[in-house]
Amino acid sequence: MPQTLQLTNPMDMHLHLREGELLESVLPFTTQAFSAAVVMPNLKTPITTTTQALAYKKQILSLCSSPFEPLMSIFLTPELDKQELILAKEAGIKILKLYPKGATTGSEGGVKDILCEKTLQVFAIAEELGFILSIHGESNGFCMEREYEFLPVFAYIAQHFPHLRIIIEHMSDRRSLEMIEKYENLYATLTLHHITMNLDDVCGGMLNPHHFCKPMLKTRKDQQALLQAALKAHPKVSFGSDSAPHLASAKLSSKGAAGIFSAPILLPALTEVFESHNTLDSLQAFVSDRAITNYGLEHFPTKSITLERVQNSVPAYIDTPLGHIIPLRAQSNLSWRIKKN
Ligand code: DOR
Ligand code: ZN
Repeated sequence: MPQTLQLTNPMDMHLHLREGELLESVLPFTTQAFSAAVVMPNLKTPITTTTQALAYKKQILSLCSSPFEPLMSIFLTPELDKQELILAKEAGIKILKLYPKGATTGSEGGVKDILCEKTLQVFAIAEELGFILSIHGESNGFCMEREYEFLPVFAYIAQHFPHLRIIIEHMSDRRSLEMIEKYENLYATLTLHHITMNLDDVCGGMLNPHHFCKPMLKTRKDQQALLQAALKAHPKVSFGSDSAPHLASAKLSSKGAAGIFSAPILLPALTEVFESHNTLDSLQAFVSDRAITNYGLEHFPTKSITLERVQNSVPAYIDTPLGHIIPLRAQSNLSWRIKKN
């Protein structure tokens, strides 16, 4: 049994860092483990321009205690014009994030009619300039079928913009796997929670609001199929945690916020999962190599992360100046931890 494991340049391709005091509190969990992360733009005031993205990036970098590359994304609106996209490109921004209006936290300013002429024009410019289009792919139908119902939209965009790289973010439905096989320019990210949990973990026993997220955790079959894709480090799938911190008070209120805060446990928990399936050899590809290839990443600090086999327990909560956040697997044991340098 190995006692240590080395990972080079872990990448988290889908991360919510929030802003202000929450940002300060959650950022270190990512910077101690990852070389780079794609930072989601769904802040209270969404990041819709290059100027906003660069200011947010500066704020993040000013709070980093170790080398880290925040890969900024821009919240796609039908109003995004070519000039703005050229500016973004010149600033090194590669990713546009599309939220269907109202689909999840912070998506009120998202796109209502995704295939309308204006949005298609944005896709055409994005394709021309070489952006990556990351999509929260959910319809507004029955919550367990939302990703499946959205698949025709992915198919349409993939077919009409064959040189546009499109990402099915936080893939949650096993039927989405067929889509990334079918369309060359369609890729996906996978979270820790969608490969290790299913709807039973939300409401199979007592209701667990800390496992409530969008897209919803699905069936055991979905979980198993997605897990297999992760374990074999599917070439078109990158790791993206979708770690999404909310104050416990917001999760537990009558308007229960969607989002799972997994940043404090990601690499140890993934190591456990891969080890328990005898696939530790593909963990490096899943948490790093696939992202570097699929997103054409070039600039990020080189990090070598050592995991050591030491029993440790996940804290009950993370304290922030605004209140507590409950991490995924709070108070449970992990058999690996990140070795401090
Ligand atoms: O569960 C989620 N929480 N899904 C998302 O798409 C957004 C995220 C958040 O920002 O809290
Ligand atoms: Zn997200």
